[in-house]
Amino acid sequence: MDSTDYTGLEVFIKKIKENTGYDFSGYKEKPLKRRIRVILRKYKLNNVKELLNHFYLNPDKYSEIVKIITINVTEFFRNIKVFAKIEELIIEDLPQEHRYNILSAGCATGEESYSIAMIIEFIRKSYNIKYKITAIDIDKEAIEKAQMAIYPIEEYKSIPDKYKQYVSINDKTFTINDNIKQNVNIATINLHDVDSLFDFKFNIIVCRNVFIYFNKEFQNKIVSKFYNLLETDGHLILGKVETLSSYVKDKFDLIDLTNRIYKKK
Ligand SMILES: C[S@@+](CC[C@H](N)C(=O)[O-])C[C@H]1O[C@@H](n2cnc3c(N)ncnc32)[C@H](O)[C@@H]1O
Repeated sequence: MDSTDYTGLEVFIKKIKENTGYDFSGYKEKPLKRRIRVILRKYKLNNVKELLNHFYLNPDKYSEIVKIITINVTEFFRNIKVFAKIEELIIEDLPQEHRYNILSAGCATGEESYSIAMIIEFIRKSYNIKYKITAIDIDKEAIEKAQMAIYPIEEYKSIPDKYKQYVSINDKTFTINDNIKQNVNIATINLHDVDSLFDFKFNIIVCRNVFIYFNKEFQNKIVSKFYNLLETDGHLILGKVETLSSYVKDKFDLIDLTNRIYKKK
């Protein structure tokens, strides 16, 4: 039973926005409260009022809060079957020469974006194809790690053998090779602002394990933005446990329920 007193939570969310620019007002209540409890434990506080007082005295610490609320758990080829599907989608509508734009939204530390880059790089051995992956996340620190593209050696085993040629091992870490990195543009961007930033459209938008934190209203808002950012016939790929709300179902056809793949109508 959760007996935490969350009085003042809305004010705290506003304060985070004022101090860091991060807006968590569209976040689902349950996961947000779970993260608040983590924060309370970390700072040895009992309730949100105490939290407000603590941060009133230490406003520079608000950035630590963002780090705790945005969970960056990810891995290379997470739910690997979806990557085979992405490969199929690309090969299916491949003319002789094609330019593929992919948005990896909520990319965390970059593993998802580089995994997609590796499969396209492999396809390129047989097909003439150019590609650009745009990888974005709200979390600046995670983005910096994605840009560095240096990963602990423990993550190496998640990469299927045929793609291991795209990384280089250095003792306890490995790095993504430059030919992959140069096709991945990585930036700190809040999904809230995603529609005003690009002057081109995407063939595929991958946004996995991000919506789980958003309430329905915010999900709908972001899916509408994705709709506008996609090419006609473009695909949207969500996480395994996520589904589109009825609000946007008339704009997308569900083409693969297991892998949460939708096609723009
Ligand atoms: C659990 S990770 C998912 C990483 C990757 N997509 C995967 O499935 O492995 C969720 C990511 O969403 C990011 N995120 C949360 N809210 C966001 C927002 N409003 N705009 C952009 N990224 C956001 C978090 O910072 C976090 O890195």
